Amino acid sequence: MSATNTEASPGRRPGTDADADAIRLDLRGIRRTFGETVALNDVSMTVRAGTVHTILGENGSGKSTLVKILSGVLKPSRGSVQVGGRELVNASPRKARQLGIATVFQEVLVAPNRTVTENVLLGQDSWFRYSLKGAARADAAQAALRELSGHPFDPRASVGDLSLVQQHQVAIARALVLEPSVLVLDESTAALDIGERDLLFAAVRRRVQAGMAVVFISHRMDEMLSLSDEVTVLRSGSRIATLQKNELSERRLLALLNGEEGR
Ligand SMILES: Nc1ncnc2c1ncn2[C@@H]1O[C@H](COP(=O)(O)OP(=O)(O)OP(=O)(O)O)[C@@H](O)[C@H]1O
Ligand SMILES: [Mg+2]
Repeated sequence: MSATNTEASPGRRPGTDADADAIRLDLRGIRRTFGETVALNDVSMTVRAGTVHTILGENGSGKSTLVKILSGVLKPSRGSVQVGGRELVNASPRKARQLGIATVFQEVLVAPNRTVTENVLLGQDSWFRYSLKGAARADAAQAALRELSGHPFDPRASVGDLSLVQQHQVAIARALVLEPSVLVLDESTAALDIGERDLLFAAVRRRVQAGMAVVFISHRMDEMLSLSDEVTVLRSGSRIATLQKNELSERRLLALLNGEEGR
């Protein structure tokens, strides 16, 4: 990544290279309307390499709309999305993937009649970074599933025959094997029990340490506090505040959510 894409941030993460502080995702002035509904109004935020940036907000505050915009599923009515210094123009899911964004959507998308391996590898043929072939690709899928669940999956099972939790794990594994520079998790812990959630967090933390940027959305305050380096609070489609790790507390975040504090 060139120096023009980095923003100096002295004091953060000493001992790591300059790239560790690079802005991986830069959203500027995002507005999105659906008819009369203003789902997002002038939202700007950045996500740095090697950090988890959580988006917090009540139901309907615009979190998933923002996720769909940065994943190329929806186009913004106004504003720009930059990934690693490159702008997402004429957005499509494919273009977002090519820029290095992988998303686990709130509504888990699996192809029920296709196998576990096919589902994990769905969507990556055209650009998979290491162009793994055949068995190596199946191995990568299996490794991701084992990392997320603690056990192997039958690679030839139809995904429609799996439990809901396993279908979630397939959808998360699909994003992980892409080795994205930005991983987006929209309510991906909602269906998981604590053990499964902890495996996901361990997988996320390993990748964040290696420099991945993560956009995380969750309703659970405790897990959000434990994972986040930064939190942006949305209320009715507007960005109310962005807090750094050392500013985070449940009381503060609840006050922001409830409109008792602005910043
Ligand atoms: N496709 C759509 N058509 C019309 N309105 C939409 C559409 N998608 C979202 N909205 C509206 O935009 C607003 C933001 O919705 P969004 O799904 O982004 O919220 P959210 O913060 O993800 O909520 P939740 O916590 O329930 O997942 C809501 O008022 C919603 O009804
Ligand atoms: Mg949502």
